[in-house]
Amino acid sequence: MILGIESTAHTFGIGIVDKDKILANVKDSYTTEKGGIIPMQAAEHHRESADKVLKEALKQADISEKNITAIAFSQAPGLAPCLIEGLKFTKKLAKKLNVPVIPVNHCIAHLEIGQLTGARDPVLLYASGANTQIIAYAGGKYRIFGETLDLGVGNFIDTFARYAGIGFPGGPKIQELAKKGKYVELPYSIKGMDVAFSGILTKLKQMLDSGKYKIEDLAFSLQETVFAMLVEAAERAMAHTCKKELLLGGGVACNSRLQEMCKIMCKERGAKFFVPENSLLVDNGAMIAFLGKIMFREGIKIKGKQIEKLDIIPRQRTDDVEVKWKNL
Ligand code: ATP
Ligand code: FE2
Repeated sequence: MILGIESTAHTFGIGIVDKDKILANVKDSYTTEKGGIIPMQAAEHHRESADKVLKEALKQADISEKNITAIAFSQAPGLAPCLIEGLKFTKKLAKKLNVPVIPVNHCIAHLEIGQLTGARDPVLLYASGANTQIIAYAGGKYRIFGETLDLGVGNFIDTFARYAGIGFPGGPKIQELAKKGKYVELPYSIKGMDVAFSGILTKLKQMLDSGKYKIEDLAFSLQETVFAMLVEAAERAMAHTCKKELLLGGGVACNSRLQEMCKIMCKERGAKFFVPENSLLVDNGAMIAFLGKIMFREGIKIKGKQIEKLDIIPRQRTDDVEVKWKNL
């Protein structure tokens, strides 16, 4: 039984996995009314909610902490103050329970959780607040085939939504408004498999300020434009790697229009489309536990005194990770 701890950004989450079953997935997220995340405040949030989240997770799984075999935690990448809280909590708990620790890369956890939906060797379109990447396994590692050159797609949507005064998080609100919108032209920004959003953001703000456009139309066109960019980049990665599966991950992947566009693209090229349920798309502890379990089975674990030496890796790149557990 593996316990997984997530703390890379807004969310402090704990998941418990036994074999391929998720027994618990509990989280508590730091939110702000205005402006973006303040790392030190998010860290404080994690510190304060950790015990409560753990208690709730054990209760949900209906187990005692003595049943835990090992603890997986998100070691990378993310905001340093947030990662440190997760690490401290992991060390304390591992010592108390006398169990090994498995350091996990958060982005790869988003990908591996796709196994639960049946994906075996997918291209992952990872679209969250802070991250926008196209990742796939090639040559012994998970590689980033394309990514955003400026902000993450979720942050882009949230920034525009805040500017328009429709609240936070912006994604679900934009999705609702888009249902009543029609298309107006926006810049389209993709280079190879990389995308960029800041130019589109500036244009959207200008259009809103001009008073000539309805917010519904801007919301609709925003979705059509940036999701088309993401789907195009993902399709290019699928063609390049000859992979026949697409998997979605990250909070923006909750968007039904993005899911629909991915589905259509996959159908047209005879590929399979996978999307986990929303609670596994957003940042969560269950995916950390799930990848921890896969790594543990391969013998990857840190024990005893070595645990004290563990550190966070805020800027770890996906392809820095040695992938020993993949047998394709
Ligand atoms: P990460 O560290 O992985 O970047 P994060 O905390 O920034 O994590 P997530 O929790 O994965 O991100 O997702 C949050 C983002 O998802 C927000 O930007 C939010 O607006 C967006 N989002 C949530 N639901 C929807 C939706 N239906 N449509 C579009 N965006 C959505
Ligand atoms: Fe994430």
